[in-house]
Amino acid sequence: MFPSSTLDAVQATVKIGLLGCGHVGGALVAILQHDADTIAAQTGVRLEVARVAVRSMSKERTVPIPASLLTHDAASVVADPDIDVVVEVIGGIEPARTLILDAVKAGKPVVTANKELIANVGQELFDAAAEAGVDLLFEAAVGGGIPLIRPLRESLAGERIRRVTGIVNGTTNYILTRMAEEGADYAEALAEAQQLGYAERDPTADVEGFDAGAKAAILASIAFGGRVVAGDVYREGISDITAADIAYAGRLGYVVKLVAIAEHVADDDVAVRVHPAMVPSTHPLASVRDSFNAVFIEGESVGELMLYGRGAGGMPSASAVLGDLIDAAHNLRAGSVGRPLHLRPVHLRSIDDLSSAYYLDLEVADRPGVLATVAGVMGAHGVSIKSMEQEGAGSGARIVFVTHEARERDVQACISELRALDVVSRVGTLLRVLGS
Ligand code: HSE
Repeated sequence: MFPSSTLDAVQATVKIGLLGCGHVGGALVAILQHDADTIAAQTGVRLEVARVAVRSMSKERTVPIPASLLTHDAASVVADPDIDVVVEVIGGIEPARTLILDAVKAGKPVVTANKELIANVGQELFDAAAEAGVDLLFEAAVGGGIPLIRPLRESLAGERIRRVTGIVNGTTNYILTRMAEEGADYAEALAEAQQLGYAERDPTADVEGFDAGAKAAILASIAFGGRVVAGDVYREGISDITAADIAYAGRLGYVVKLVAIAEHVADDDVAVRVHPAMVPSTHPLASVRDSFNAVFIEGESVGELMLYGRGAGGMPSASAVLGDLIDAAHNLRAGSVGRPLHLRPVHLRSIDDLSSAYYLDLEVADRPGVLATVAGVMGAHGVSIKSMEQEGAGSGARIVFVTHEARERDVQACISELRALDVVSRVGTLLRVLGS
């Protein structure tokens, strides 16, 4: 542990055990190799990467790391009495979970960038850290380099947050931007995102909203102090969005974005969801292009604010890890610890009970009375039409509706009934409309 004689030194060295040395771990090493003196001068804490656990000892790395620091044995790094702080950038649930629990039980603060772990078993880790009286910090787990967790936990600690709306997945934002700006269809834009290294070969986690769902769970937990895990989040992806939907949204003054929304509905009721939505082009989130991320926060006293930046990538994420490391090292040196995170149980409001305006696209027969039939079904379900436009004619006729605010349960019942009508050949995209 930390020798007390060193604690008194002006620039006490804090020894880091780094678990994982991929994009984020390698970037952290590179920053510290370059900036350790500046950081020491600015913060009074000298950070030294003392041991690095890696999967492959022979892999070529972007930063030179002395072979003497490398090991296969992550558990031995955690247990090493010379290691003061553990940084976990392996990802996934195991062995990361066990390594972190072992570190905090040994009284060592932990900094992690592990979204999956925090979104699924965060509670267990927070409890263990609180019991051991050590810091467990995870700024890089959501939004890469964008400070989100600390502003929500500290700057906005007393704020009654109403809603957090985020563009928290860079891959899907890149795809939707290409579709909107170049008229590309989904498959073309996805292929481009894969070529650029944004999307994985199997893009499911990004395009079907799993990645954003895990981030939404973490944001909801922190914003509302409640227990929300990834599996609690309602989720739809972007793979069914067509170039025609995006073009139509554009003509109406909207852009289509994959949004993660964590909302305080009432008392202990929160609603957390990820789905594509039409965002008014005047909304600050509409200007978030390419692979950038942003989180728009609405609070009772603070009003509206937005945090914007690089939501992924080695260097931006390493920047967030570094901020946490300096905090943890500083606390360790001072013999203190940050405020523990206690999450209370919350009730999750089903999407069925939420209300929104909707965009609905139908392929219909083009003959007298069809519109009246469709409008009749909508009216019977309490879904009020705000605007309607027909595109095409004959067998290619399409009617696009924007509704007034309606309850999801009613809209879904309405769609089931529309689907069964002879005059409706296809029910296309249903998009929720933000800010109405
Ligand atoms: N794949 C994510 C994205 C980054 O595209 O934003 C990691 O969470």
